[in-house]
Amino acid sequence: MMNLLTKLIGWIDARFPLISTWKAHASEYYAPKNFNFWYFFGSLALLVLVIQIVSGIFLTMNYKPDALFAFASVEYIMRDVQWGWILRYIHSTGASMFFVVIYLHMFRGMMYGSYRQPRELLWIIGMIIYLALMAEAFMGYLLPWGQMSFWGAQVIVNLFSSVPFIGHDLAILIRGDFVVSDVTLNRFFALHVVAIPLVLVLIIVAHLVALHEVGSNNPDGVEIKKHKDANGHPLDGIPFHPYYTVKDGVGAVVFLMIFAAIIFFSPEMGGYFLEDNNFVPANPMKTPEHIAPVWYFTPYYAILRAVPPMFGSQFPGVVAMGIATVAFFFLPWLDRGKVKSIRYRGTIYKSFLAAFVVSFVGLGYLGLMPATPTYTLISRILSVVYFAFFILMPWYTRIDKCKPEPERVTSK
Ligand code: HEM
Repeated sequence: MMNLLTKLIGWIDARFPLISTWKAHASEYYAPKNFNFWYFFGSLALLVLVIQIVSGIFLTMNYKPDALFAFASVEYIMRDVQWGWILRYIHSTGASMFFVVIYLHMFRGMMYGSYRQPRELLWIIGMIIYLALMAEAFMGYLLPWGQMSFWGAQVIVNLFSSVPFIGHDLAILIRGDFVVSDVTLNRFFALHVVAIPLVLVLIIVAHLVALHEVGSNNPDGVEIKKHKDANGHPLDGIPFHPYYTVKDGVGAVVFLMIFAAIIFFSPEMGGYFLEDNNFVPANPMKTPEHIAPVWYFTPYYAILRAVPPMFGSQFPGVVAMGIATVAFFFLPWLDRGKVKSIRYRGTIYKSFLAAFVVSFVGLGYLGLMPATPTYTLISRILSVVYFAFFILMPWYTRIDKCKPEPERVTSK
């Protein structure tokens, strides 16, 4: 049997770079030996991507992208399709967990300066993935055609109409109609199911290619390629396979246990993963009392609402929201610190990063709340903190007193 397998692999390898690819990207790809908890989230993002694609394919077999039938088809999946309920809960939980994983993945990059030279392009590709993921989640949310799907899309697409001169036409282009309608549902379905996943997969491949070109950073922020043994392998590196395939496997099992617990015990997650109002069919004649996007968009939504309208136009808020989202792109050039990792940074950088996290989480919470005067005031303060993190970065990273960075990784 083994002989047959070896022969088959040999046959394929003579016609396709099988062994050499495996060696270059797994068994002889050297990753730093000091990866910690924060390094689980890249492989977990890949896992969630697969979960979303597979559960999505099965949902599509019974879902109907038609304003008359969409809501009912989701109820049909939940009640009548065999295992339909679990497929739907896997997909809705997967959407939120994708963002949990991605936010932690990005935060790791910010802590250890993984966006710095030579990983700028890796970071930029990551940011493009993040934007594509937001578009994917936004369009998917319209599909169940509940009250929140409809009114959430209505509010967000209307934001585009505040753009001077082209806004009105732009909003019509996105909707395909003067209001969110069956036409919108059909195009969002096409984009959610085919176009964006295709783009996502391609840019994720590019992300991994870029990662393997420059090699991983690590919690010490030192470049392991600087110190190599006689065979040219980094002294502080270990082969990705078997060491990290096994380690990431453990992370995946723990993650799947949490994932399953949510699906079985709290799939709606108290209204944060699936909102109550979305169990009511879309009604264009009845605006819900309180419209809020899903939690992963609320930090930006809070910034949008924090900026006062100018001449009756929401455009300044829309611009602030847009800048808040794309600001991360510029981190590689805003950061002037002498060291990469937070381990060797001074108090100033640590304080700014901590304040940023507080502002992001705080804005996320406020974006879910009604815009009362007190909440709006707090949102404004937190928005200032949020932007200060980026705008002042060239200054505070330069004056920050860093500890000397070690030559080699420190943790065993
Ligand atoms: C579906 C989305 C994504 C997938 C599947 C993914 C996958 C991965 C994987 C497997 C790794 C190597 C393992 C690790 O370092 O954790 C990695 C590293 C990295 N990713 Fe992502 N990623 C995604 C999104 C992002 C985003 C949104 C960003 C940032 C904006 C980003 C930035 C980075 C950086 C900077 C590294 C290198 C980190 C280091 O070496 O310290 N990624 N990614």
